[in-house]
Amino acid sequence: MTRIAVYPGSFDPPTKGHEDLVRRSLALADRVVVAVAVNAAKQPLFSVEERLDMLRRSVGGDSRVSFESFEGLLADFAKRLGAGVVVRGLRAVSDFEYEFQMALMNRQLHPSLETVFLVPAVDLTYLSSSLVREVARFGGDVSALVHPAVAAALAQRFRR
Ligand code: PNS
Repeated sequence: MTRIAVYPGSFDPPTKGHEDLVRRSLALADRVVVAVAVNAAKQPLFSVEERLDMLRRSVGGDSRVSFESFEGLLADFAKRLGAGVVVRGLRAVSDFEYEFQMALMNRQLHPSLETVFLVPAVDLTYLSSSLVREVARFGGDVSALVHPAVAAALAQRFRR
């Protein structure tokens, strides 16, 4: 039986922390679906297509990893995929409360869906998409934090 994991997120933009989590999640599953959530309530910096393209460039090239977007509930999307596991990263205690709440809600909606938390590489634990956006917005160097394709997309977005 193929074990499918879904790794959902906003990925606005993807960071080296996300890349690290995708690689780590392959230890748990035969296939990992990286899933960009479409959230009409949020004003993302990058469109869903742009985020998928950046993800493909930064963690594509492994036939076990695929990329999709989804609207609506993660629990429903996971059911449609036949995924048994949701992968989320836990960087610090501050992530825990939100992640715990989300995991329990997803279990309420889809009882056989397990959430697995993975710890990123220690040198990436401070990293978040929102910090990367902020640093790039003010012209800071993000080349150590994101794939070169993402750095180029940020530079283009914030070109003055
Ligand atoms: O990268 P993020 O923004 O922390 O990811 C959050 C995400 C997209 C995983 C979460 O908001 C989500 O699952 N959204 C889909 C809608 C949904 O299922 N909401 C209820 C979750 S309990």
